[in-house]
Amino acid sequence: MDRPFLDLKVEGPLRGVLRVPGDKSVTHRGLMLLALSEGEGRLLYPLKAGDTLSTAKAMAALGAEIAEEGPHFRVRGVGLRLKEPEDVIDCGNAGTLMRLLLGLLAGQEGLFAVLTGDASLRRRPMGRVVEPLRAMGARIEGREGGRRAPLAVRGVPLRGLRYTLPVPSAQVKSALLLAGLFAEGVTEVEEPVPTRDHTERLFLHFGLPLEKEGPWVRTRRAEPFPARDLIVPGDFSSAAFFLVAALLVPGSEVTLEGVGLNPTRTGLLKVLKAMGADLEWRVEEGEGGEPVGWVRARHSPLKGVSVDPSLIPLMVDEVPVLAAAAAWVEGETHIPNLSELRVKESDRVSAIAQNLRALGVEVEEGPDWLRIRGGGVRPGAVEPFHDHRIAMAFAVAGLPVGVRVYEPQWAEISYPGFFEDLKRLCAAS
Ligand code: S3P
Repeated sequence: MDRPFLDLKVEGPLRGVLRVPGDKSVTHRGLMLLALSEGEGRLLYPLKAGDTLSTAKAMAALGAEIAEEGPHFRVRGVGLRLKEPEDVIDCGNAGTLMRLLLGLLAGQEGLFAVLTGDASLRRRPMGRVVEPLRAMGARIEGREGGRRAPLAVRGVPLRGLRYTLPVPSAQVKSALLLAGLFAEGVTEVEEPVPTRDHTERLFLHFGLPLEKEGPWVRTRRAEPFPARDLIVPGDFSSAAFFLVAALLVPGSEVTLEGVGLNPTRTGLLKVLKAMGADLEWRVEEGEGGEPVGWVRARHSPLKGVSVDPSLIPLMVDEVPVLAAAAAWVEGETHIPNLSELRVKESDRVSAIAQNLRALGVEVEEGPDWLRIRGGGVRPGAVEPFHDHRIAMAFAVAGLPVGVRVYEPQWAEISYPGFFEDLKRLCAAS
């Protein structure tokens, strides 16, 4: 069967300034919280891509009125009481949507909803959210005892929960905090290691109950709250592809502006610095409680490192593009603590190893680690495995010598226009 592909090769350095699309995590959450608010508010510069359009549709099916206004969304919320959807809610490829929605719906008394998704999402583990929600009283049924979608939720009264996350997951933490807004008493979540804290920051932005104490985050039943505009920063995870591309291609200098620099997201900057990257950044403002600023990357010779395992949750989506960089360094790079990557949009540990091999790179794959021998790649063809970040990371890995990317359209899940932006920066010199 003929499959679409894109051939890419830089002719010169990457140069210029770029604003990447809005943050995916903040867009999902912004749409959900505006849908729960009273009155009308705007989500400014949101991400309009496969995943977040699934969220906009889901929140509309639950009663919110969502209109496009140029690059923005205008949302009229329903208050705390969502409408019963008339049909199955299709979460597409979006794990964040399905998991957070389970939390949001569990306490909507009497409401019935069925959530499904594409083949990748229907394979992903949902027990990590369903089990603690059931401990709060939730009624959720699904395939494999509720561990896989499709999942059916019947909203019931919930009680608060004290829960320690068994795996570092912002999605699980966020699902429980959202459920906590509809629960009797206090809902407390402990994170053994920090994960992205957008939900916490947005609760504060909208005046929802939230307390932090060491590794614990607490919330309680919400009172009706008014809508409020929210500015979405650029997505650091999208910016990361251009930072690494600039580091790899001789003569490059790229500046990303208006990008979210929340410290729970920027672990990659530390690792790249340790590899010898010429990187500068500055936080210039805070929008909706999120630090925002610029990052500049200049071509640099890089060396291999052993990545600190505690940094992985702070760069969980950037591991594929780190692996792309690791293919070009002098020496070896060891990336540990990768068990969560096996249950992302694809098995990313295996997808990384297979694509590196396709580009002639020596790589050893353990159950939860990768060891990558640097030295450069040879031209080849890469396979996204139905995963947006794998498509973009391996476009970057092969860019300096030429690469064929099969099914490049997967990038549209989080970054429509990614390949156009990449080509434009190359031609900008
Ligand atoms: C996300 C959390 C992370 C991340 C995903 C977005 C979020 O997933 O990989 O792309 O918005 O909360 P986990 O919570 O499974 O680590």
